[in-house]
Amino acid sequence: MKQNEKEIVESTKQFVYEQMNSETSGHDYEHSLRVYRMVNYLAEGLPVNSFVMSIAALVHDLIDTKIIADENEAIQTVNYFLEGEGVIQRDIESILEIITTISYRKNSALDSLEAEIVQDADRLDAMGAIGIARAFTFGGNNDQLIYSAESDDTTVQHFYDKLLKLYELLNTEKAKEIGMKRHQLMQDYLIELLADIQGDY
Ligand code: ADP
Ligand code: NI
Repeated sequence: MKQNEKEIVESTKQFVYEQMNSETSGHDYEHSLRVYRMVNYLAEGLPVNSFVMSIAALVHDLIDTKIIADENEAIQTVNYFLEGEGVIQRDIESILEIITTISYRKNSALDSLEAEIVQDADRLDAMGAIGIARAFTFGGNNDQLIYSAESDDTTVQHFYDKLLKLYELLNTEKAKEIGMKRHQLMQDYLIELLADIQGDY
């Protein structure tokens, strides 16, 4: 990365920090930083534009409709910020393309290795020890029970609906290596948790 690109990465961290500082829904600044660190680890030795990928990782959740009201407005805010930092138009387009296509819900086809890596890093952060912590934090924030015999609206159910499916969806080989460990940990954890809940001592 060029020196001026490194400086833009630092300003972007500050920009994301200011916007996500007070978020406790699992979309906090530390999540963005973990995704940023993970993409750089996953991309070692791969032919990627690490500047575009790093910025996309840092800003990826700023346009999530769980934390902002209007997605288009949020995309514009990111766009203006990057223009203000002097990022070239082609890179801005690539960054916006990545962050608008990677979400789990949208299930869009990805058209770059950078997008695949950012998506992998975001998904890995929903798995394993950190993923378990984030799931129960989300549950607590949304008045959701840990477990219920009567309802599917629980955090345990979220593991079956989403988190245990993420491993199969990982794109890159290195992410699959890390993902396998995290997947296994969630499975082991659920076995213990359900034993505790069901009185299987
Ligand atoms: P991201 O946008 O970072 O990919 P999401 O917005 O889907 O992730 O979710 C943020 C975090 O909240 C994740 O760790 C996810 O597992 C957790 N989460 C989302 N929905 C639920 C739910 N219904 N129950 C428990 N955890 C949830
Ligand atoms: Ni995310």
